[in-house]
Amino acid sequence: MQAFTILLESPIVTVMTDSPLLASTDTATADQWWRTSVIYQIYPRSFADANGDGMGDLPGITSRLGSLADLGVDAVWLSPFFTSPQRDAGYDVADYCDVDPLFGSLADFDTMTAKAHELGLRVIIDLVPNHCSDQHPWFRQALAAAPGSPERDRFIFRDSPELPNNWESVFGGSMWTRTTNPDGSDGQWYLHIFDSSQPDFNWDNAEVRAMFRDVLRFWLDRGVDGFRVDVAHGLVKAEGLPDFIPDPAAASMGGTEELAPWWGQDGVHEIYRDWRQVLDGYPGQRVLCAEAWVSPLSLMAHWVRADEMHQAFNFPYLSSSWDATAIREVINESLSAFGEVGAPSTWVLSNHDVVRHATRLALSADNPQGDGIGPRTPDLPDPAVGLRRARAASTLMLALPGGAYLYQGEELGLPEAVELPDEARQDPTWFRTAGERYGRDGCRVPIPWQANAPAFGFNESGRSWLPQPQQWAGYARDVQQAQAGSTLNLYRDLLALRRTHGLGAGSVQWIETGHRDLLALRNREVVVVANFASEPVDLPAELHGLPVLVASDAATTTTVLPGEAAAWLDAGN
Ligand code: NOJ
Repeated sequence: MQAFTILLESPIVTVMTDSPLLASTDTATADQWWRTSVIYQIYPRSFADANGDGMGDLPGITSRLGSLADLGVDAVWLSPFFTSPQRDAGYDVADYCDVDPLFGSLADFDTMTAKAHELGLRVIIDLVPNHCSDQHPWFRQALAAAPGSPERDRFIFRDSPELPNNWESVFGGSMWTRTTNPDGSDGQWYLHIFDSSQPDFNWDNAEVRAMFRDVLRFWLDRGVDGFRVDVAHGLVKAEGLPDFIPDPAAASMGGTEELAPWWGQDGVHEIYRDWRQVLDGYPGQRVLCAEAWVSPLSLMAHWVRADEMHQAFNFPYLSSSWDATAIREVINESLSAFGEVGAPSTWVLSNHDVVRHATRLALSADNPQGDGIGPRTPDLPDPAVGLRRARAASTLMLALPGGAYLYQGEELGLPEAVELPDEARQDPTWFRTAGERYGRDGCRVPIPWQANAPAFGFNESGRSWLPQPQQWAGYARDVQQAQAGSTLNLYRDLLALRRTHGLGAGSVQWIETGHRDLLALRNREVVVVANFASEPVDLPAELHGLPVLVASDAATTTTVLPGEAAAWLDAGN
């Protein structure tokens, strides 16, 4: 460990850290926008609905992009809007190069992209290469063809009197589904990491590889700035598809994943090297971002080596508990693991697969990813505590160097919709586990724009594919716009200051606080303090008097930080 000093206004603060300058973005240049960007995830089903059918759509997105430019983000990422039977909310793609009529048309996509670019927002779309829909023409052809045919070779079919192995679907139940032969007898089995309606591709097949190169080019030609790659750790399975023998010592999802024979196999990397070459053939910086649930972070960093992807979602950060030591460790580990390979770290707290962080951070029990919560979950968290922690967590996150991802609605402090009735639920997890796991519907409810409008301004008809909680009127964007200190205005301030101070391209220097629940770090001219305890805490004397730039709690002073709060202090003079 090294000790060194930094000069604030006048006092001297001693910094103790394992690595004095934990910079993730030393090599950032203006054109490498993705190294420092804040990317806002739009979940098209639930963002804005122009035609009033209760399902969000591309024209709806276009009409609301101005509010995202106003918020101050750099880019949007859209979850799938492609042709799909919607068995897994669009992550079951039947045509990779068309828009599902639910969401509009290719012309609507072009209009949306043009509008985003006009507003200075880059556009990233989802790419789902691990599996398609069982309605994809290739899978229909495979079912109609004989075992051993080239059509079946595009997927993973096996002959076996019983289940070919013990692999369990992420959504519950077996990873194998048996086909029926034309004469009614039992046929081959096919593999699906997710729902039976989502057959996995065989990535040893050259046609599969060629098809995805074409898909990349199709959207790059239409002007997209990049792709978020779904299940980027799952495309290649271990040779021979051996049974999975879990290590009881590595119980949590993050801990077991690299051990499972369907996750994190080395063979995935040559696929991304190939894609990188496709992207690099286009002007501008087009990017790939991996959704790769692998741990530890040093393994995840393999996805972002110089000739592979640009970014990977930082799930260990998202999964970290509400604890100062744990957060400090994961920040250090992230900056050092991604820094090792010259990549920026990313930061994320919410997305469409996890309980919203305004609820999750106040849960008393562990909630494995995808389980969700609902009315029968014991010890439901206090929404006020959740919101306080979420505001503090976002205030800390947006001060960190690298890229950050926001999920629609978090800028409103939206909690998880816990009280969804059973009959409204749509997540395949709910059905495949006979209601044992609630799944992810609670974070996918259409977001509120206006307190006093049908469907809170999601559309004009008042319809909504998942029911919106009545209390959401209080979270509506129009209400928050007018409220000093609202979560929306907090995010706007954070994003504006992050840009002014160049924090995305900065570095982390820890400041020892002598208090186990109080973190303090310096990034460029900004000192960030975060209090994980519920009681207020005195700031270290050396920080007293630094002007407060922004705070998650208005009761913050230049000497005291309230409980479960975070603030940025100006150390620039
Ligand atoms: C990850 C996506 O984020 C999730 O929503 C989806 O269900 C699975 N991949 C399968 O595509």
